[in-house]
Amino acid sequence: MQILGISGSLRRGSHNASLLRAAAELLPNGDELVVWDRLRDVPPYDPDLDDEPAPIAVAELRAAVEAADAVLLATPEYNSSIPGALKNALDWASRPHATNVFRNKPVAVIGSSTGMFGAVWAQAELRKVLRAMGARVAEVEVALGHAPEKFDDGGRLLDDDVRERLRTALAVLADEVGPATPPARGAANPLRVAA
Ligand SMILES: Cc1cc2nc3c(=O)[nH]c(=O)nc-3n(C[C@H](O)[C@H](O)[C@H](O)COP(=O)(O)O)c2cc1C
Repeated sequence: MQILGISGSLRRGSHNASLLRAAAELLPNGDELVVWDRLRDVPPYDPDLDDEPAPIAVAELRAAVEAADAVLLATPEYNSSIPGALKNALDWASRPHATNVFRNKPVAVIGSSTGMFGAVWAQAELRKVLRAMGARVAEVEVALGHAPEKFDDGGRLLDDDVRERLRTALAVLADEVGPATPPARGAANPLRVAA
């Protein structure tokens, strides 16, 4: 199974990016998590630009989602909602609506924030958006609050309970993908995090 990981944070040292890396380390042999980290390169959604050829980062995103068996999104919470850059990228990915690359794609949403609630509202909104796009949203929740205390200076997860919840979330996502996964299409992404 190939999972595409997307962090909703553009920040260097993002806790959500670290959460994705922690998830990658838990995958069974043969599975891999590939991170797509070009959110900052996606232009503001503009229907006038939504034509072929798509902007490069948009085309990359659509291809990466299409090639993956599943997508794992880790989001921070900005003003009780989804960071704008992530929502913007999903708006691009959601077109054309009927055949968008997220339609029927197994996805899971996790998240982390500096506050105590672990981005639960942002996660709920993100799941709503993904369902509107036709994605198959797995019933998982990993809401990691007080993020600065949960990672060491190198961004390594310190909390074994969270690690177990990530493991469970990945298992639920794998169930959503199902046993007979064909090989992922498309070229390998150079931003491979773990095998
Ligand atoms: C503009 C902005 C708005 C924020 N709003 C919230 C919020 O509503 N709720 C919350 O828990 N944290 C909020 N935060 C804190 C972020 O969730 C926190 O910085 C988070 O760790 C960022 O994720 P990252 O480490 O992956 O960059 C906000 C941060 C910013 C920059």
